[in-house]
Amino acid sequence: MKQTNKRELTDVLACSQKVYKPSKKLIKQANVQDYEKTLKSATKNPEKFWEEAARELKWFKPWDKILDKSKKPFFKWFTGAKINLAYNALDRHIETETKDKIAILWEDETGRTREYTYLQLYYEVNKLVNALRDAGIKKGDRVAIYMPNIPETAMAMLACLKIGAMHSVVYAGYSAGALAERIKDARAKILFTADGSFRRGKIIDLKTIVDNAVKKCKSIKKVVVVKNNKQAIKFNKKRDVWYHDFVKGKSTEAKCAKMNSEDPAFVLYTSGTTSKPKGVVHVHGGYAVGVLRTIKWVFDLHGDEIFWCTADPGWITGHSYIIYGPLLAGVTTLMYEGVPDMPKPDKIWKIIEKYKVNVLYTAPTLIRAMMRYGKEWPQKHKMPSLKILGSVGEPINPEAWEWYYKYVGKSRCPIMDTWWQTETGMNMITPLPCAPLKAGSACKPFPGIIADVVDKNGKPVPVGKGGYLIIKNQWPSMIRTIFNNPKRYIKTYWSQIKGAYFAGDVAFKDKDGYFWIQGRTDDVLKIAGHRIGTAEVESAFVKHKTVVEAGVIGVPDAIKGEVIKAFIILKQKIKPTDLLKQKLKMHVRHTLGPMAVIKDIAFVDKLPKTRSGKIMRRVLKAKELGLPTGDTSALV
Ligand code: PRX
Repeated sequence: MKQTNKRELTDVLACSQKVYKPSKKLIKQANVQDYEKTLKSATKNPEKFWEEAARELKWFKPWDKILDKSKKPFFKWFTGAKINLAYNALDRHIETETKDKIAILWEDETGRTREYTYLQLYYEVNKLVNALRDAGIKKGDRVAIYMPNIPETAMAMLACLKIGAMHSVVYAGYSAGALAERIKDARAKILFTADGSFRRGKIIDLKTIVDNAVKKCKSIKKVVVVKNNKQAIKFNKKRDVWYHDFVKGKSTEAKCAKMNSEDPAFVLYTSGTTSKPKGVVHVHGGYAVGVLRTIKWVFDLHGDEIFWCTADPGWITGHSYIIYGPLLAGVTTLMYEGVPDMPKPDKIWKIIEKYKVNVLYTAPTLIRAMMRYGKEWPQKHKMPSLKILGSVGEPINPEAWEWYYKYVGKSRCPIMDTWWQTETGMNMITPLPCAPLKAGSACKPFPGIIADVVDKNGKPVPVGKGGYLIIKNQWPSMIRTIFNNPKRYIKTYWSQIKGAYFAGDVAFKDKDGYFWIQGRTDDVLKIAGHRIGTAEVESAFVKHKTVVEAGVIGVPDAIKGEVIKAFIILKQKIKPTDLLKQKLKMHVRHTLGPMAVIKDIAFVDKLPKTRSGKIMRRVLKAKELGLPTGDTSALV
């Protein structure tokens, strides 16, 4: 299978010659029917476009100004307005017929199921709001959530927002150390978790990980534990409380905090170019506007859809398109706690048929894993309910795109290849269902977004030439700051290219203005769509007693897109054995979590470095892949 990060630009351009046009039927029923016209009119006046989008939400008080640029790059949207993201995702539906619609459908690997209507979810969230308030949580506090993909995760997130507290969801695949680091940075007071979770038939012992993490976190006063898979756990009676006891007897009605549009709603940590993760801050008003508009337009939602995003709530994709997006749009979201290929490789297709899923939003790594099992598995299932497919997290190689289109979408469902980031909050470069598609291209910027590909001086590069992806204007769901670190916010996103948001991706545009995203600049890896900083992995390596120095790079992998190759300098007198390689791999996995997949370790005597001591990963990578090393004059 050819890989995106190995392909030459010319190969990609050759692929781009084929255009997949949407059917007339599809266009007729779509929320947006004229792609180019819509783009053109939004580009003329993006603020007007977003103001119109904002009117779909319920505001407690209208805005005085749409976009305030006076303290740039700390941009503010809908200033003067009052709103609550959770109110819009939940409470406002209780006043309409939506209240009896299923909000959350849940199933796990063992076949257990649950469902909640919007009204039931509202009651559950309110009980939790009251419990949290009684436990002392108030506006501005932080609450950490380390949970599996279960309805209580959504409830905890919504309850925090209703109070005006910020949630910090940490993906439940992270290690105790990584969880502790995030809790400490956010100074969270309460932590939500579960006894455990099932994955691929195995029990994931979440509570033990939490116990180890919380030992190091003084700010945590209470751990609320969902009884999920009923395994035996250690219970610290002073600190721990079962979720069902926490909400017992609480009222099903609760007041919703009227927040300023710009009040922070949540923080979500993501990898950057240093070993310390960045707490990306999103706010109540603009985030709601961006997420609602994108989910409705990109996935063509009309109100009665079953939406399945296979991400985890611990990532931004889960925040925006498992929880907030579908609920803001008043549709049904499916949460599946398990893997897509157990007990058989067609589990994923079976779920689509069982729940009559209309939109499947998944990642290229999953598609490639399914391709390996063979087309006969999706071919066994007609999946007539499917209307739109989505892809996110990394570039989708044209081979995977075509397989997805043909065997999953049966050549009738358009694929929305959505480029975006934790920082952008919403889909940024993406087709709409009415757009002509090219396999492997994320198409054009969403209406109201102005993007470009430029050189290091900010000058647009010619068609077909690679450059830095930037966003030239502002958008409502953009990151507002990095928690506790506004300087890093300015440095990371607003200091590379004058006046533009620097995405950290390399891309090129073709003759039709279609964007082809090539991948990250070399300091951040994408492993199975998960973002991991090379610096984080290197710092995990050097924590091992045998290691002096480490340099890591991403190398192409047929399924995961990218995996890690590490170059390690050992302490003197330490023998470079295969057993040590195994130990080091386990050490990194233990330090960071199972996402950090180390494919290979090479023991070396020296690493290529600049005069200032920075490891030249670019040179390591070029050598590994047999590519030209480029300018190495700065090397010592
Ligand atoms: O490199 C891009 C890649 O994922 C990065 C953002 O990662 P994260 O913040 O974890 O968010 C992932 C889910 C939104 C981007 O900088 N990326 C995301 N979507 C695509 C993509 N690369 C190519 N095509 C995409 N559709």
